[in-house]
Order: sequence, then C-alpha cells, then structure tokens
Amino acid sequence: MNKTICLLPGDGIGTEIVAQGKKALEAATARTGNTLTFTHALIGGCAYEATGSPLPQETIDACKASDAVFLGAVGGPQWDSLSPDKRPEKGILGIRKALGLFANLRPALLLPELAGACLLRADTAQKGLDLIVVRELTGDIYFGEPRDIVVRDGQKVGYNTMIYSEEEIRRIAVIGFETAMKRRKRVCSIDKSNVLETSRLWREVVNNVAKDYPEVALEHMYVDNAAMQLVRDPSQFDVLLTGNLFGDILSDEAAAITGSLGMLPSASMGSSSPALFEPIHGSAPDIAGQNKANPLATILSAAMLMRLGLNMPEEALMIEKAVSAALAGYRTADIMEEGKKQVGCEEMGDIVASFIEKA
Ligand code: IPM
Ligand code: MG
Repeated sequence: MNKTICLLPGDGIGTEIVAQGKKALEAATARTGNTLTFTHALIGGCAYEATGSPLPQETIDACKASDAVFLGAVGGPQWDSLSPDKRPEKGILGIRKALGLFANLRPALLLPELAGACLLRADTAQKGLDLIVVRELTGDIYFGEPRDIVVRDGQKVGYNTMIYSEEEIRRIAVIGFETAMKRRKRVCSIDKSNVLETSRLWREVVNNVAKDYPEVALEHMYVDNAAMQLVRDPSQFDVLLTGNLFGDILSDEAAAITGSLGMLPSASMGSSSPALFEPIHGSAPDIAGQNKANPLATILSAAMLMRLGLNMPEEALMIEKAVSAALAGYRTADIMEEGKKQVGCEEMGDIVASFIEKA
C-alpha cells in the first residue's frame, strides 16, 4: 500500500527531529513492503518568514491532500512580539481547526527503562504511570467568541469566552470512552463544575454518554484536584477526559512527571483523515541546530501515525520496540544515565532505524 505523509517540520528543533521520525517510518515500511510518499509544507515562524502567514493556504491544501500529517514543533522568541494572528502558535491552532482535529490523545507512560528519570518519589513511581489524556482540541476558551482586549472606563480589559456545545462534548466523550474500552476501562472526566457553567454541561453530557459504556468506570474530578492527584498518585488514572484548556495544562503536567518530556508522542484526530501526529514538547530554540534534541517523542509519534493514522500496526510495533532497544544502550543528553552511551539527535535516529532494520 502507498500512503502520502505531509511533513511539517516547523521551527527550532523541528527539522532535526522530524528527519529522525522520517527515518523510522522509512525503515519500518521497508520491512513490510508498504511505501510512503512524503510532501513538505511550512508552518509556524518559518512559514511567517516565507509568506507572511504562520499557516499559508498551500500548507492546508498539502495536509488535506495527505493520508497523515507529521509535525515537529513551532515557535521561537523572535516571533513572541507578533500580533496573535501572525504568531507561530496560530499555525498549530489553525491547522487543528482546518482539519477538524477535535480529539487530542496524549499518552503519558513511565517506561521501565526510564524509571530513574521520573520526578516522583520512588514509592509513588513504583506504582506505575500509564495514562492517556484525551483532550478536546477545537473548542473551549481557545476558540470561543467574543474575545478581545478593549478599553473600559479608562483601562484595558481582556476577555475570552469559555464555551462548549453538547455535540462538541459528546463527540470527545465518545473518544474518551472508546479509548478506555481498549485500555483499563476507567475514565476520569475533568471539569470545574463547582464554578463554571460550561463544566456543568460537560458533566451532564459525559454522564449521558457513559450510559452507552456500562463496562467503563466513570469518575468526575475537579481540575484543581486532578492537578494535585497527578503528582500524588498518578497510578489511579487510566483515561483523563478533558476540555481544551484543562487538557493543555494537565497533559504538560502528566508528561513532566514522567521525567522525560522528550519522550512523549501525541495524535490529533477528527472524524475523517488525515490525522496529525507530533511530539508534545515544543521547539526548544535554545538547543536548535545543535544535534542535541531527543528525537524519541517524534519517533514514537511516527509509531502512533502508523497505528492510528494509516492503520499499519505492524510498523508501529516495530518502531516502538526499536525505541526500547535503543534506550537500553543509548541516551540523548536530556535522559542521560550512568552506564549508557550519550548520543546526539541524528545518531539516536540512526540507532532506532538500525534496530528496526534488524528486528
Ligand atoms: C499544545 C501547545 C499548544 C496549545 C500551543 C502551542 C498553542 O501548548 O499543543 O499543548 O496550547 O494547545
Ligand atoms: Mg500545551
């Protein structure tokens, strides 16, 4: 089978890490006989420099013409003072909206090989950490109207609108419960229904969807409590079902406590293809171009792309196994441990690809 993948390397370390992810994709498909065609497009700061827009129409067209989109990262300090519609982040938000990617899946897993990197106390880490944040991605206060900064009574005020419709909540809840059915069958739905109307509706709709999943144990948790429980005992969580803003915050927290932000992949999916796959970390401008970045989150995103984006589970498993094999002997600087050999971004990509070739 031949599939087309649109590469969006973006800014900062994006180019380096996407190149390593591409190597893994090529190595895995070479083993199975599937073939991939790669297209390239600009997003973020580099797109703004080249075209004046962080998300040119050609990029949207190239993504829509592909079977899956593979993104690096966007952003950098040189673009921080641009107006909101020109900022690199607008590229990401825009492509999510343009492709209708309403469901963001962010697994946080403490790999046994990396237990030493976990930020939690050893007795807490021992209990394990294997959860997935299922985050709504095209609604909420991120996109809600009206929004503005205006002058009222002689001073500036800024405002945004937190808003969810029943249908927006229902479809992400369905993804949450479906995800749980393939895992440990537990959903913890996150809200702030003690304060917010949107959250009260969220809870009502999630309760309704839950009726279709009698096997799944549903629990509701306020977002502040969830932030605390995540560091106190993350082993209690299987699927964390969240709105856009709460999921943004909790998914960074979940990733950080594993101790290896450079390890975690993500998928953003809609009701039709293409879906988009990217590491959850940012563009790390401070180490860009220095061959220091950890490409494993991107390589693991490539595995998610094969499994969820192209329905090629065999390749996905090959890539994941190769990452474990590489970790046994080699580390990038961010996850370096005694007894391992430290390697750069490109070497790590080569090592993973060679394990795929040997598998
Ligand atoms: C993320 C990022 C984005 C978000 C930014 C870059 C707009 O933080 O993917 O979590 O807030 O969604
Ligand atoms: Mg974020």
